[in-house]
Order: sequence, then C-alpha cells, then structure tokens
Amino acid sequence: MTPADQSFLWEMLYQSLYVPQGNAPFERDVVKHPDIAKYVKEWGREDDSGFVAIDENNRPLGAVWLRLLKDEERGFGYVDNRTPELGIAVLPEYRGKGIGAGLLSRLIEAAADSYESISLSVAAENPALRLYQRLGFKEVGRCAGSITMRRKLEPR
Ligand SMILES: CC(C)(COP(=O)(O)OP(=O)(O)OC[C@H]1O[C@@H](n2cnc3c(N)ncnc32)[C@H](O)[C@@H]1OP(=O)(O)O)[C@@H](O)C(=O)NCCC(=O)NCCS
Repeated sequence: MTPADQSFLWEMLYQSLYVPQGNAPFERDVVKHPDIAKYVKEWGREDDSGFVAIDENNRPLGAVWLRLLKDEERGFGYVDNRTPELGIAVLPEYRGKGIGAGLLSRLIEAAADSYESISLSVAAENPALRLYQRLGFKEVGRCAGSITMRRKLEPR
C-alpha cells in the first residue's frame, strides 16, 4: 500500500465498519468522524503500512493496514503505544473467498519485522472474529460489545 492508495483506503475504512444483519448501512460521511478518520487520514506516515489485494486487472478488492495510534490518538483497539492497530475490509461481493485471510497472513508475516504485536477491535457478533482467532489473535479486553484482540508476532 502506498499514499496513492489513499482513496481506496477511505472506501475500505467505510467497508470495514461492521453493520449487524438487518441494520441500515452507515451514512457515507461517517468516516469523517475524527474517531474513525484517524485510522486513514493523511495516509503515508512513517509507521503506516498495509497491503491491497488486486485482481488480474490490477483492480483493488480489499485491504489490510496498520497504523500506530498513540496516547490521545489511541483507537478502539488500543493496547499500548508500541502496538499498531489493524483495519481490514474486502469489497462486499468478494467476501468469503479467502482474500481477507490472505491479506491478514501476509501482513502478520511482514509486521513481524517491525513490531512485537498488532491489535484490533471487533464487534463480539462479527463473524470476522473467527478469522482473527484462526490466525492467532487472542482476546485481551472488552469494551461496550467490542473485543480487543492482540496477535503476538514471531521475528522471522
Ligand atoms: C472480515 C473480512 C475482511 C474478511 O475477509 P474475507 O475475504 O471475507 O475472509 P475470508 O474469505 O478469507 O475468510 C472467511 C472468514 O471471514 C469472515 N467473514 C466472511 N464473510 C464475512 C462478512 N460478510 N462479514 C464479516 N466477516 C466475514 C468470517 O470470519 C469467515 O470465517 P468463517 O468461514 O469461519 O466464518 C471481510 O469479510 C469484510 O470486509 N467484512 C466486513 C467488514 C468487517 O467486518 N471488517 C472487520 C472489522 S473488525
């Protein structure tokens, strides 16, 4: 992922917001809310990293990204100042085909060069929870219906 992926990343941020079955989708401008925008705003900071999944025509289908959100900037999945928070989404029509697992595995491998662990926040009823558990994320806390999970990384 590069700063050139910024506009797709905003779309992914929107797509990453969990909508329980039967609920109306969020308004598009929900991603401008400071608590949400901070995961993507001015993408390209020194510590920012991520991957975009593309099809054979270079069309982006999904993304996974990490951002270190420290102190007063801390996000929903905050663990400590050394642990970046993860965002992930796949375009709706491509979900359930292994793309998310592929993105996440690749990121876990690459992030081990820079961090001891990564974290995320997931709604307790989001099916994505199973994917995270499969890939080694462990629950480290709960807050208002969301679970904070951490994945320890082994140096390569
Ligand atoms: C979560 C997500 C990135 C996974 O990517 P994916 O390509 O669909 O995942 P894969 O095909 O590799 O793996 C399937 C797993 O993804 C999860 N998943 C599948 N469809 C999903 C959906 N519509 N919504 C949420 N998670 C889903 C499940 O955990 C599933 O595992 P299971 O088969 O054991 O239930 C993707 O489904 C998505 O964008 N979901 C909506 C946004 C979201 O919930 N983001 C995470 C916020 S914490």
